[in-house]
Amino acid sequence: MRAKVLVLVLGVVALCAPGAAQAAPPPDIEQRIGALVAQMTLAEKLGQLQQLDGLADGTARPEHARLVRRGRLGSTLNVRGAAATNALQRVAVEQSRLKIPHLFAFDVVHGYRTIFPVPLGEAASWDPPGAEDAARIAAREATAAGVRWTFAPMADIARDPRWGRVVEGAGEDPYLGSAFAAARTRGFQGEDPSAADRMLATAKHWAGYGAAEAGRDYNDVDLSERELREVYLPPFKAARDAGAGSFMTAFNTLNGVPATGNPYLLRSILRDEWGFDGVVVSDYTAVLELIKHGMAADEVDAARIALMAGTDVEMVSRTFNEHGQALLRAGAITVARIDEALGNVLRAKYRAGLFARPYVDPARERRELLRPAHRRAARRAAARSMVLLRNEDGALPLRRTLGRVAVVGPLARARKSLMGTWWGDGRPQDVTSVLEGVRRAVSSGTEVTSADGCTVPCHNTRGFGAAVAAARAADATVVVVGESYDLSGEAASRSSLDLPGRQLDLVKAIARTGKPYVVVLMNGRPLTVEWLARNAPGLLEAWFGGTEGGPAVADVLFGRVNPGGKLPITFPRSVGQIPIHYDARPTGRPFDKANKYTSKYLDSPNTPLYRFGHGLSYTTFALSNLRLGATTIAPTGSVTASVTVRNTGRRTGDEVVQLYVRDRVASVSQPLRRLRDFRRVTLRPGQSRRLTFSLEPEDLAIFDADVKPVVEPGRFVITAATDSRGGLRAGLTVAAG
Ligand code: BGC
Repeated sequence: MRAKVLVLVLGVVALCAPGAAQAAPPPDIEQRIGALVAQMTLAEKLGQLQQLDGLADGTARPEHARLVRRGRLGSTLNVRGAAATNALQRVAVEQSRLKIPHLFAFDVVHGYRTIFPVPLGEAASWDPPGAEDAARIAAREATAAGVRWTFAPMADIARDPRWGRVVEGAGEDPYLGSAFAAARTRGFQGEDPSAADRMLATAKHWAGYGAAEAGRDYNDVDLSERELREVYLPPFKAARDAGAGSFMTAFNTLNGVPATGNPYLLRSILRDEWGFDGVVVSDYTAVLELIKHGMAADEVDAARIALMAGTDVEMVSRTFNEHGQALLRAGAITVARIDEALGNVLRAKYRAGLFARPYVDPARERRELLRPAHRRAARRAAARSMVLLRNEDGALPLRRTLGRVAVVGPLARARKSLMGTWWGDGRPQDVTSVLEGVRRAVSSGTEVTSADGCTVPCHNTRGFGAAVAAARAADATVVVVGESYDLSGEAASRSSLDLPGRQLDLVKAIARTGKPYVVVLMNGRPLTVEWLARNAPGLLEAWFGGTEGGPAVADVLFGRVNPGGKLPITFPRSVGQIPIHYDARPTGRPFDKANKYTSKYLDSPNTPLYRFGHGLSYTTFALSNLRLGATTIAPTGSVTASVTVRNTGRRTGDEVVQLYVRDRVASVSQPLRRLRDFRRVTLRPGQSRRLTFSLEPEDLAIFDADVKPVVEPGRFVITAATDSRGGLRAGLTVAAG
């Protein structure tokens, strides 16, 4: 956990400390870049700034080879596979004038061929080393297929579950988000991204994309400097400090200025404050979209604005290449800026190891994809991502020896949906469904039946009869409901977070049989499932679990794995409560049932359906004896917080101990609690462990009225808890220096 503390430390400190350490590229690389730049024509320079999209099947378009041969195309996205990448690379390295290797990018977000749980699920594991391992495996497979640059991690904080892309990030919390952004970056890149099995990572979408107004994708974003710095930037800083080789501009405006043409983001913060020397790529056609944003008059203008603001590489649209020469002649852009962008691209190519090893070995590709060890890791990751939301009277785990188990619901047989929203090069035929997972998990005498009941989005109930009959005839029924893969992710905003279609009615129909049943949720965002939260005997949040999602669900259902995940994002009761997140500031009129004039709704409790950090287990845990290393410290001091966690139940299980901080009285009103550390531990029945966390000045710092980090003297409350409410408290005083 020290590493995670460090992430935060750097995250806060560097908000005001320009140019914090990033391993400087060896001088000979800079010399080689300089030598190359000196030989290049303007057309060749602009060519390196162009990125074009391959075909959906992973092959290059016919024009790509022509452009690469003439030095007019520096990178592609989506072209993948040893055969396709080697073929295009041969043109770059053997047939172009300067032989600059081509860079192959692809969205390897939660797996390349072996698909891991979606990032939101991975975050629910509260296991950053696990996420690092998943990213390492993804990089190993992707690089074997020629991919050297991934567009991940998505470091966007998301507090509005209407926004479909909450599935791609680590949820609502900047601390948890930072831990995962750093872990994923390290996993993709390793110590050295030029290694044969590592690739460049991209922190995206820079910045504020998760705060789209009304949760509608691509929509306007308006954030105060405070909210930007406190909530939205820390995961990006963590990715940058972990060495992320690139950043991607966001589609949205930030305070009126589109991110792709935003010098405050691209220059002032990223380069000047943070000392980033990697490459900045636009999002897909985002340069051209400056016209629709109403910031650029035409394509010429769009190219000028984006390039001069600090976008280095233009993805898919071609304004830099089509208008760069004319803009330069007109003095609207500068050679210095083109050379800077070009230098960033060439540096990325060196960092990706392309000059040393442009090609990949097809035999390695055949060996690496879907290795049994990768599948095993994916299954473990999926099981660790699951969150047991509710478990009445030990409804779960199910016995393996039941006479008959029914697995029903529209997602029971799903394979493509298990792969989630960025399935890389994953194939549905590689995926094991929940039904199949259950079949493999039960003992030989157990019969497993199935019926879909309905489809996810449709309103017809014709299939209900078969599902109800299956439930009636079974000793236990597993109902798998939620979202299909295309209901979460990009351009998948929803104004309702209810279970789509007639799925809730299906669950109710099963419930009416009076037979035992449990519900498995498969989805990429918080859902408003109040009925299930009140009535389903067992409720398991399984997200989109990936290639091995089905067996992992079965592992948890039958108790082979004791669930230990915790929600990385609040589940609201209704859309009307959004935005709702645990780290709210207090109001001057806190909720008081007896007093109308307090902060509340007339028609809903303030409390969420399931709070951030919530998750049950098949065993129970107790925290005790929270002690601080000191009760008074100086503003520059640090302090330890120790707490004992004990497994008080009868099964081995995992608990995530969470450490929160509140600055009681500060010059700027502070949230009721902010996560500052956490640890996931496995304990046998009766076993206890003493955990010690270290709180550094940065963990106690707030942003003052000038939005500068500062530790203010006064009283702090330190809380150790197993979710974002309650827990054990200790008082800490920071004495004036
Ligand atoms: C998405 C990015 C993605 C890019 C390339 C865009 O539509 O916003 O997250 O990396 O496409 O596929």
